[in-house]
Amino acid sequence: MTMTRTKMTMMTMRVEKMAGMAGRGRVPLFRRRVCARCRRGVLDQHQRRRRPLSSVVRSGNDKFTEMTSDLYSYMVNLNDESPILGEISDYTTGLPAGHMKSSPEQVRLFALLLKMLRAQRAIEIGVFTGYSTVGIAQALPEDGVLYAFERDPEILKVAKGFCEKAGVAHKVKAIEGDAAVEVQRLVDQGRSDFDFAFIDANKRAQKAYYEQCLKLVRPGGLVVVDNVLWYGRVVDSERNDKNTIAIRELNQYLREDDRIELTVLPVGDGIAICRKLGES
Ligand SMILES: C[S@@+](CC[C@H](N)C(=O)[O-])C[C@H]1O[C@@H](n2cnc3c(N)ncnc32)[C@H](O)[C@@H]1O
Repeated sequence: MTMTRTKMTMMTMRVEKMAGMAGRGRVPLFRRRVCARCRRGVLDQHQRRRRPLSSVVRSGNDKFTEMTSDLYSYMVNLNDESPILGEISDYTTGLPAGHMKSSPEQVRLFALLLKMLRAQRAIEIGVFTGYSTVGIAQALPEDGVLYAFERDPEILKVAKGFCEKAGVAHKVKAIEGDAAVEVQRLVDQGRSDFDFAFIDANKRAQKAYYEQCLKLVRPGGLVVVDNVLWYGRVVDSERNDKNTIAIRELNQYLREDDRIELTVLPVGDGIAICRKLGES
């Protein structure tokens, strides 16, 4: 069946009107948009589902259990923590910056992901006393390697001591210095064979680290960014300090990044798990 030009024009106008686009330039009636993420010639499902960050979640999508200290203790105690991780925790809790340590369930999740990925090579940016370093290294095979970056020589010495004690020092390549410079050395070597990267350092540089790690990780590998909920400050309009703004901007950037599949979880202070897309 052939369609007359007038009928086509009227249909186009009807579609434009339904889509609220009338008069805003001509939109071909049957043009199929190609999704930038999955490259399929269908409507961009990923983009269509993006809602303003501040909008209330769809009714039925708001099921979550509010955390209390008691409930949190109960949850964490359901899992055993290895004695060495317990020791690092005890040591770190006594430090003024002790809150910087990752949470047990966070490191446990990383260990699970690393094992599922059969990861051989990992990166960590921000070692501190070595809690996540040891947790990640424990989950790697005996011939695996974790490149662990830390700028503070004193705290790195502490972390190395715990790695020795945990029996994982042979898997950890501790690199002292500014991570922005040191990680770039790997990028400049053309490396792209890492399975996993965990970014947990100075917040204003997280985006630069993300870009570096995305180059270093293979397709199908993960880049995990810590502190994306920033103790709730990301939704507090009164908080507009540089770190909070940087974290909000990075979250928005990750949300729009077609190179990854993004999963954000309220684990610890919020983690963004970015799975690199592409041919593996
Ligand atoms: C939040 S702590 C890391 C916590 C650690 N991942 C854990 O779970 O215990 C952040 C660490 O990043 C380090 N850091 C901050 N800026 C850095 C930089 N430019 N290069 C390397 N390390 C940096 C800090 O010295 C600090 O030890």
